[in-house]
Amino acid sequence: MALILAIESSCDDTSAAVLRDNHMLSNTIASQKVHEQYGGVVPELASRAHQQNIVPVVDTALKTAQVSKEEVDAVAFTRGPGLMGSLLVGVSFAKSFAQALNIPIIEVNHLQAHVLSHFIKEDKLSITPQFPLLCLLVSGGHTQILLLHSHFDMEIIGQTIDDAAGEAIDKAAKIMDLGYPGGPVIDRLAREGNPNAFQFATPHVGGYNYSFSGIKTSFLYTIRDYLATDANFITHHQADLCASIQSRIIDYLLHNFEKAAMKLGVKQVAIAGGVSANSYLRTSIEALGKRHHWQVFVPKLQFCTDNAAMVGIAGYYKYLQHDFADISLPPYTRDNNL
Ligand code: KG4
Ligand code: ZN
Repeated sequence: MALILAIESSCDDTSAAVLRDNHMLSNTIASQKVHEQYGGVVPELASRAHQQNIVPVVDTALKTAQVSKEEVDAVAFTRGPGLMGSLLVGVSFAKSFAQALNIPIIEVNHLQAHVLSHFIKEDKLSITPQFPLLCLLVSGGHTQILLLHSHFDMEIIGQTIDDAAGEAIDKAAKIMDLGYPGGPVIDRLAREGNPNAFQFATPHVGGYNYSFSGIKTSFLYTIRDYLATDANFITHHQADLCASIQSRIIDYLLHNFEKAAMKLGVKQVAIAGGVSANSYLRTSIEALGKRHHWQVFVPKLQFCTDNAAMVGIAGYYKYLQHDFADISLPPYTRDNNL
């Protein structure tokens, strides 16, 4: 039995979780509202807010789990990728906490944590995936199709060659002046709109890779052209624009994913990352799964966006392998950029 305290602070959410083995006992998240007025995450403000939130968030996670800090066996933390100032808060906290209690630390890759969120058990009835598992990882910074042979053996089958899917959605929202982050707003407004009202560019990239920059530009130019004749074009067509750009991006994501799943012959599939909260993506992949007889894993909303429970489950599997980190380990901002 292992009691893991997990810390996540890679971007603008300060989160702490407690897991007993693969069972989640608590998952506390403090989101930072301060960035909304700036239309994006302001790194300097994010690190300051983490600094204010980290102690109360960890305290709440331990209290909710009804454990004392002396019972903790190891501390898992997001080492990267992310914003340096944000990461430093969580990494430094995790190291000091562990040193004070003389327990090991476990470094976790944020992207692997998003994928591994499917292995968290909330109760005895939780069903977790089998291998091989094909996962579409879609967040604000990453878009990848990953084939998991085991928990940490993740083979990249396809990935974006430019922007991430979440970035493209947020950019479209920004063009329509819908605020930040735009993903949830587009999701809501799209429900009232016609996904076929507007057509945007179809990217052509090889293999199972993606490109979103053409879709983004095509969206921008379409709006610019219509605005020339109707100054209120965006307000008049908001729902149709949201539904059209959302379906363009999500259908494209699933097109390559379906091709890859068929080619690889996998039957276990999953989505993960912030964009996996998108209701159209969630219903579309369930429908695809029915057609192909896949077992589809769609994360609960609390595990889509950044949270420490996913860091805890990744930490737990490393704990089993005694894969502990050295206290001198620095954070990293980009994948493979240590
Ligand atoms: O995983 P995440 O919280 O942070 C990163 O690691 O990047 O993902 C954030 C991204 C943002 O682009 C946000 O707009 C998007 O997830 N997102 C959504 C929805 N909820 C969050 N995109 C579409 N529909 C949603 N409901
Ligand atoms: Zn994330």
